[in-house]
Amino acid sequence: MGCYVVGSAGSQEKVDLLKNKLGFDAAFNYKEEKNLDDTLKRHFPEGIDICFDNVGGKMLDAVLLNMKLNGRIAHCGMISQYTLDEPEGIKNMMNIIYKRLRLEGFVVTDHYHLFPKFLDFMLPCIREGKIVYVEDISEALESCPAALVGLFNSSKLGKKVVIVATELITSQPNCSVLLGQY
Ligand SMILES: NC(=O)c1ccc[n+]([C@@H]2O[C@H](COP(=O)([O-])OP(=O)(O)OC[C@H]3O[C@@H](n4cnc5c(N)ncnc54)[C@H](OP(=O)(O)O)[C@@H]3O)[C@@H](O)[C@H]2O)c1
Repeated sequence: MGCYVVGSAGSQEKVDLLKNKLGFDAAFNYKEEKNLDDTLKRHFPEGIDICFDNVGGKMLDAVLLNMKLNGRIAHCGMISQYTLDEPEGIKNMMNIIYKRLRLEGFVVTDHYHLFPKFLDFMLPCIREGKIVYVEDISEALESCPAALVGLFNSSKLGKKVVIVATELITSQPNCSVLLGQY
């Protein structure tokens, strides 16, 4: 779409994947960065127009410092917060005022009616290699708990999919389990 896109991931392997396979312009390992504000300034010297936030917490705080005037943040998830006893506070909220930022929650189920349109756009992109995806597949219902834990400890690489029945999948393509928080 012509955007300059930077990704954040928790291992060098994932950073390489973002840059070399998934087409990100740049990527960094958030676990290795000492100061996320410096990291974002390095990658976005002129600031960020759009943030698709799946992380929340310290990353969101650093993002707020680096948003451009009239920037937009779509809040899709806050995975850094789900396993904490108490959610972390966000300190840099004043930037919302000064920079006239727009923040909005995004819930995928609100947009299911657009799914056919999404497929019309996305399937040709996948066929043409413009969009690439990676799946981390495990088999059998018994692997679900480990697969769920894998969302939080960086052990998986790609979208986690648990195949519960290969025979059914042949005739019913929707019969795999996509593991997410929703
Ligand atoms: N709003 C909606 O409708 C909707 C629907 C589904 C999911 N979500 C949200 O979308 C996000 C992604 O979900 P997903 O199911 O697609 O999972 P995913 O991105 O396939 O897996 C979650 C990833 O989060 C990273 N992570 C874990 N702890 C982290 C932390 N403390 N800080 C930063 N990154 C961390 C891990 O990668 P690393 O190795 O890089 O740490 C992990 O691979 C989640 O926040 C989820 O709640 C929202």
